[in-house]
Amino acid sequence: MHEPYLKAMAALLRRCQPRHDLYTVFGDCVEAMAIAIVNSVDLRKRDSREARYLDIVGRYQPDIVDLFPRVLAQLVHALEAGPGDVLGALFHDLELHSKARGQFFTPYTLSRFMAQVTIGNPESVKAIIGDHGFVTAMEPACGAGSMVVALAEAMRDIGINYQRHLHVTAIDIDPRAIHMAYVQLSLLHVPAHLMVGNSLSGEMREHWYTPAHILGGWNARLAHRRHHEPADEMLADASETPCSPFPVSRAAPPPRKPGASPPAMPRQLSLF
Ligand SMILES: C[S@@+](CC[C@H](N)C(=O)[O-])C[C@H]1O[C@@H](n2cnc3c(N)ncnc32)[C@H](O)[C@@H]1O
Repeated sequence: MHEPYLKAMAALLRRCQPRHDLYTVFGDCVEAMAIAIVNSVDLRKRDSREARYLDIVGRYQPDIVDLFPRVLAQLVHALEAGPGDVLGALFHDLELHSKARGQFFTPYTLSRFMAQVTIGNPESVKAIIGDHGFVTAMEPACGAGSMVVALAEAMRDIGINYQRHLHVTAIDIDPRAIHMAYVQLSLLHVPAHLMVGNSLSGEMREHWYTPAHILGGWNARLAHRRHHEPADEMLADASETPCSPFPVSRAAPPPRKPGASPPAMPRQLSLF
């Protein structure tokens, strides 16, 4: 389904060679897309992001800069054909996932399977939505967003409008991954708060809110739910997993004693 678009995107990006490093151009292209989207809806830090955008495009000659919106257009066409982790697949197709860089994304079919396992009984998810209006999902190492996109699609398949009834918190330590996930979740109109940060230490560096988050008034919706469900209760509910749907508000973990085992990574994808 996405093959023709992936081929077109790869061919466009390869035009930068041999003048530029493909890994760098891919990262710059996706970051420029992410900034263009976020600056249309989120005024916080708009000026510094705009300066960053101008810095990125200023590094290239016009023929290379012209590739960026053309890649974005192909991505839009691909996601209109159907949901998927198009940028993750492109990253692999361009062979940017080398072991040295250690970035491997889950194949989308596997993400779909995991999304179905996460949902479990559709009636339980519908019951949470009936009680609270929405479910929240947490992805502590989101990569390009494969599992989140799959979750949204799986919800759609059981008759739930994820654009209104799902809110995602997604974290990745790699800014490139967050840019990829941000662009895809924005285009699919998934309400989401993405963070560049370390899910193990709890340190967060950057916050990216999708247009669906901002336009849907999700800060207020989440605050309302927090107000009516004390955090302790929610964390107790999540006792099987150390991952909270509101990781930013959690206190940083105490320093680890020498020789102690590292903290457990939060479960890959959780629904609350
Ligand atoms: C194997 S990839 C999986 C990505 C995505 N969940 C998927 O299924 O395609 C692992 C991701 O974890 C991120 N990562 C590794 N350590 C992390 C940490 N401490 N905090 C947040 N993200 C981390 C990496 O940058 C990488 O994008």
